[in-house]
Amino acid sequence: MTEKNVWLITGAGRGMGVHIAKAALAAGNAVVATGRNTDTVTKAAGFADDLLVVKLDVTHPEDAQAAVKAAVDRFGHIDVLVNNAGNFYAGFFEEITPQDFRAQVETLLFGPMNVTRAVLPVMRAQRSGLVVTISSTAGIRGGEFLESLTPEVAPFGIRTMLVEPGFFRTELLTPESTNYAEPTIEDYAEKTRQTIAAWSGMDGLQGGDPAKLAKALVQLASQDEPPLRWAAGADAVEDLEQKAQHLLAQADAYRELSSSLAYDDTNA
Ligand SMILES: NC(=O)c1ccc[n+]([C@@H]2O[C@H](COP(=O)([O-])OP(=O)(O)OC[C@H]3O[C@@H](n4cnc5c(N)ncnc54)[C@H](OP(=O)(O)O)[C@@H]3O)[C@@H](O)[C@H]2O)c1
Repeated sequence: MTEKNVWLITGAGRGMGVHIAKAALAAGNAVVATGRNTDTVTKAAGFADDLLVVKLDVTHPEDAQAAVKAAVDRFGHIDVLVNNAGNFYAGFFEEITPQDFRAQVETLLFGPMNVTRAVLPVMRAQRSGLVVTISSTAGIRGGEFLESLTPEVAPFGIRTMLVEPGFFRTELLTPESTNYAEPTIEDYAEKTRQTIAAWSGMDGLQGGDPAKLAKALVQLASQDEPPLRWAAGADAVEDLEQKAQHLLAQADAYRELSSSLAYDDTNA
């Protein structure tokens, strides 16, 4: 058991992950540096007393479980998880194969889920922890599939419109459409009970009238410039405003630090 904070970092054989591992070690933390190829990770991270190198392909849930066990066996706890591993399938939507999309989602979505799922029981038992996920501004700019598609197809006269409905009185909250996860973890039991009660209690009482949504949608779709994103419902307007305000506050919160990360020979 170490008294240092323990960082578990994915994709620590190349790129950002190596830098994060080194910086965490330099700051006096213990580090579990993981990667698909442990030789690469060891070569990149170097040797240190408080460094453990473990094999972890984030697309393999069993690797994640084993890496977490190895981390806890060696250091006793995990304080910071950094979901860093990633790859990049770039291209126009129509040119990226379905297989490549699946591979991208496997690494960038299911990967962090696998590792986070393995780490959370440890953090929950500790009642402490930080889960860091390296996302991308691509996620902000083109967060949803359709948003990314928009500029690609615009030159061909094709537009896109994202509809963001709030609560509408449909059958979505009936048992035919909603599947609640089986409660299996005591820590979540009370919240689960409250959530299920709240959501199912809302069934049939949602404020939004889907017929009105449909009519408005038809009207908007007939415009020359339909909205790229349409907030459907007063609650949706409120949600979008709140999100925009949060994003602005987050962009502003560390403006100086955020803007000081370029190489000295560039102005980026
Ligand atoms: N660099 C940027 O400009 C930028 C911008 C936005 C977001 N990001 C994000 O930052 C993170 C780090 O990327 P990077 O720039 O450091 O890229 P990088 O230099 O290509 O490094 C990617 C790392 O992820 C690992 N990796 C890939 N698939 C993996 C898997 N299935 N399991 C475990 N490890 C895997 C790679 O390991 P192998 O050696 O085994 O391939 C490598 O260590 C990624 O999530 C990326 O999306 C980067």
